Amino acid sequence: MDKVLILDFGSQYTQLIARRIREANVYCEILPYATPFSEIVKRNPKGLVLSGGPQSVFEPESPHPDPAVYDFDGPLLGICYGMQLMAYKCGGRVEPAARREYGKAQLRRSGASCLLEGLPETMQVWMSHGDNIGALPPGFRVVAETSNAIAAVEYAERQRYGLQFHPEVVHTPLGKDVLHNFLYRICHCSGDWNVASFIEESVAAIRRRVGRQKTLCALSGGVDSSVAALLVHRAVGDHLTCVFIDNGVLRRNEFQDVLAMFRQHLHLNVIGVDASDRFLTRLAGVADPETKRKIIGEEFIRVVEDEAKKIGDVKFLVQGTLYPDVIESVSVKGPSAVIKSHHNVGGLPEEMHLSLVEPLRELFKDEVRQVGRELGLPDAFVRRHPFPGPGLAVRIIGEVEPAGLAILREADKIVEQEIRRAGFYDAVWQAFAVLLPVRSVGVMGDGRTYENVIAVRAVQSVDGMTADWAPLPHDLLEAISSRIVNEVRGVNRVVYDISSKPPSTIEWE
Ligand code: XMP
Repeated sequence: MDKVLILDFGSQYTQLIARRIREANVYCEILPYATPFSEIVKRNPKGLVLSGGPQSVFEPESPHPDPAVYDFDGPLLGICYGMQLMAYKCGGRVEPAARREYGKAQLRRSGASCLLEGLPETMQVWMSHGDNIGALPPGFRVVAETSNAIAAVEYAERQRYGLQFHPEVVHTPLGKDVLHNFLYRICHCSGDWNVASFIEESVAAIRRRVGRQKTLCALSGGVDSSVAALLVHRAVGDHLTCVFIDNGVLRRNEFQDVLAMFRQHLHLNVIGVDASDRFLTRLAGVADPETKRKIIGEEFIRVVEDEAKKIGDVKFLVQGTLYPDVIESVSVKGPSAVIKSHHNVGGLPEEMHLSLVEPLRELFKDEVRQVGRELGLPDAFVRRHPFPGPGLAVRIIGEVEPAGLAILREADKIVEQEIRRAGFYDAVWQAFAVLLPVRSVGVMGDGRTYENVIAVRAVQSVDGMTADWAPLPHDLLEAISSRIVNEVRGVNRVVYDISSKPPSTIEWE
């Protein structure tokens, strides 16, 4: 399979470059900027991309690659900081710009160019830089400019290309075509990466590694662990046993529904363990959110361990680790920290001497969804909102008790039903109910009530790192509120959370 490698100099867009390249059907990986050149060549890339980065090339602390990278015997594309590095190291001059350029700019082509072949004479691009190329290195030509800066350079004979703008962001509408030119006209990639080829290769690789040995997967009910299980199941069939645990803090009917889907629809070999008593007994009287999380995490490990002992001789543990979790640790300053997938199985592999199988390590979330669909996961399941591992325990503020759980389950169901009915389910990142530890006065019929308050939370987000409260229509909020107060016994007031993240978080605990 053809492969392009990106050296990461810390730009927040590095992952986006990788995604764009994969969207163009070329397999691509991100490596830390300091990866030894020998490692890079071993992977036999068709081309190298030097990413952007937050620093100036002449700052003493600025990241530089192994110098042999500049002699790579293949196409090299520098983007923003990457282009300045290339210019600086190949004998050009980089200088602080008189004016920092940030945002949209108009690019004008100024000569024949392989990278910009087929693109219009002028086009919108997105810039974010404080330095400019002052003098070109020998052999390089300017092929595009903006009113402020050199926008693209080439030294076609040596297959060296540089872009000052970011082709990977949506604000460069034709950026995809620029990357396409790099991948196909310059690197001559064959475009052999797609979800089907990924499945085929990873199934073969899992078969080679796991063979007929016993393998365990703890399903969380989320998309990642489900897709990981399906892939491994396709490779080794019933040598894979899955465990799905009722931890007592799942949503209404979740345990039965998800179990039925895994068993009947997907034919996975799943053990359903109702461990709700174990979890709820340990949670009793605990109000601190982090202690609740810790208890649920620990108990989860214990239950999986018990099941593994019953199966006996388990050698492998499947985990749904995704690519963002893997690359987070290698970036310079990091594309902003990524939320952990919280599979709650940390600690298991070491204690039980299990080897990890992580078939999604190379995939982004949207690719995991595609793989899931291809493997038969129902679309509605693939599009489900994220649900935290500690479940409803972090949506009951304070102590988790059966009465509170019953109230929250009912309210949560109504929020989901109404949001779906109004057609907003796919438009929000998460929507849920929270049970507050306060009582308020109300009046129902002729009587005064003194009952619980439910907070409704709905947010829009791309990755959960930041979020805006969702401006849901008033009639939808009205429907949610009146149904909760009318149908859920013990609730006489509903409030809507209008805080964004930051400074709030998505969950209340
Ligand atoms: P916060 O509340 O940190 O949530 O803004 C960001 C995203 O992470 C989810 N979340 C968790 N998921 N275990 C999980 O599996 C947890 O302990 C946890 N805490 C928060 C949250 O639902 C949101 O999608």
